[in-house]
Amino acid sequence: KTIYVLNGPNLNLLGQREPEIYGSDTLADIETACTACSRGLGLTIEFRQSNSEGDLVDWVQEANSKGAGLIINPAAYTHTSIALLDALKAASIPKIELHLSNIHAREAFRQHSVTAAAADGVIMGFGATGYRLAIEALKSLIENRAS
Ligand code: DQA
Repeated sequence: KTIYVLNGPNLNLLGQREPEIYGSDTLADIETACTACSRGLGLTIEFRQSNSEGDLVDWVQEANSKGAGLIINPAAYTHTSIALLDALKAASIPKIELHLSNIHAREAFRQHSVTAAAADGVIMGFGATGYRLAIEALKSLIENRAS
């Protein structure tokens, strides 16, 4: 089984971008940890990042057409993107929204997620560890759907 881990805008800057909020791990560090975690669970991983909303929409559609599992950190598009919400709603696959920070503890404009309504569940506030937690949660979603 394949899982897509999609990362939105500015997450390519992790490690140097507001490390007091997002931590010191780079996206490459997180990808390495996700690859190891997925392998241990018998999952194949497609790990991607884009600053473009359209790329993320295309990749959600691609994950759905392949019947993959999906983890998405939509980053700032979380708070604005109806296009991503619609893409996620159209994807009938197991899907998890993920945030490094606890968006409810931040500025008012970050406290609402436009996209989360289309996710099976949301993991936030655990920093880079959240990616591992999301992979484990996705694995159990996949297993529960199969049974
Ligand atoms: C984020 C939270 C968003 O509000 C922000 O725009 C991001 C990252 C997080 O992972 O905590 O870029 O999705």
